[in-house]
Parts: sequence; structure tokens; C-alpha cells
Amino acid sequence: MKIKSATFVVSNSEVSKCPNTRIPEYAFIGRSNVGKSSLINMLTNRKSLAKTSGRPGKTQLINHFLINENWHLVDLPGYGYARVSKKDKKYFQKFITDYFEQREQMISAFVLVDCRHEPQKIDMEFMEYMGEKEIPFSIIFTKADKLRPQALERNIEEYKRIMLEGVWWEFPNYFVSSSSDGTGQDEILNYIEEINSN
Ligand code: GTP
Ligand code: MG
Repeated sequence: MKIKSATFVVSNSEVSKCPNTRIPEYAFIGRSNVGKSSLINMLTNRKSLAKTSGRPGKTQLINHFLINENWHLVDLPGYGYARVSKKDKKYFQKFITDYFEQREQMISAFVLVDCRHEPQKIDMEFMEYMGEKEIPFSIIFTKADKLRPQALERNIEEYKRIMLEGVWWEFPNYFVSSSSDGTGQDEILNYIEEINSN
């Protein structure tokens, strides 16, 4: 898919206020600082369409971008746990789970994980949450420029091993990306184009 236009639409703190259209959308989610906003800029060939920062917690709202006048790309804040009860039970921030559970226009999500790290508990739990709710997603291993191909391969294999030993029957669809050198751009955009045309 060629990007002909990419424009910022609106930022929201609540799902109910997100654009009231039937335009299909694709959401990017993952821990703070994993590279969600940078990936959105890379995919759209824009330097600063989405705001990025070296400090975690830059994106705080649900951000809609309109691409090629026919689909929405959504930049979300990093997930973490919100403490909600005396027993110290923790959940993902409510507006993030509300977004995924209520947003009917959301066709498929991309869960970003940093390719340099071994599987982290919070990412595993978030993907299990997505699985339980039957929300379609792919994994994106970000910052691939930071690892040699062999180390990258090893880390992906470790994800496969841990997920397949856990609750997963099959390893989710996945991509590898680098916002520094453009790795993954064609694959991710073509994947979105393919789903969008069905
Ligand atoms: P929050 O909005 O805080 O949740 O973070 P985010 O996931 O949107 O991350 P962001 O895109 O702001 O990037 C975080 C940091 O990682 C920035 O310093 C980026 O320059 C850096 N970064 C993001 N993607 C890549 C990548 O592919 N390669 C390298 N080397 N650095 C990256
Ligand atoms: Mg961000």
C-alpha cells in the first residue's frame, strides 16, 4: 500500500468520544517506550505525525489518524497496570480495555514488543487478555535495528516457546520492525491493505 495522505484527526480520553464513523481502524498498543508512535511515523513516512519521546509515557490519549482517506490508524498510550482494589488487584487501564472491547470499527490490533527483551509478564498478560476477548491482533517485534539477525531470531523463538507452552495453540501472526531503517513497513501496510480489501 502506498501512503497518499496521513492526517491527524483527534485525541480522546474516552472511547465514546472517538470518531463516530464506520471507517475501519487498526490500533497500535504495547508498553510505554516500545516504539508505537515512532512506528506510526515510519509507516506513514512522516517525521512527526505522532509525538515520540525517549521518556516513557509520551502518548496519553487515544489518537486517530486518517490514512488515504479510507482507514484510521490509532496510536494508544502504553499499557501498565492500574491499581483498582484494596487487595492490590491490578488491571490494564480501563480506557484501554474499553477501547478494545467497545470499538466496533477496530479491525485488528498490533501488540508491540521490544525485540531485545525476553518475554515480559505484562505483555504476556495483555496478549492473553486479547485472546480471551477474541480481539484479533498481530505481534510486532520493534527496534530490530538494535539486534543482529541471529539474536533477533533467538528472541522470537523464545517468545514462541513460552507462548506455546502457555495458553496458546498457535503463535500469533507477527512482524519485525525498525523505525530507524524502515524494516517492516511494506509487510505491515500490505497486511492492512489485504484485510481492508476483504
Ligand atoms: P509512549 O507514547 O510513551 O507509550 O511510547 P511509544 O511506544 O509511543 O514510543 P516512542 O515511539 O515514543 O519511542 C520511544 C523511544 O524509542 C524513542 O526514543 C524512539 O526514538 C525510540 N525508538 C522507537 N522505535 C525505534 C526503533 O525502531 N529503533 C530504535 N533504535 N529506536 C526506536
Ligand atoms: Mg507514543
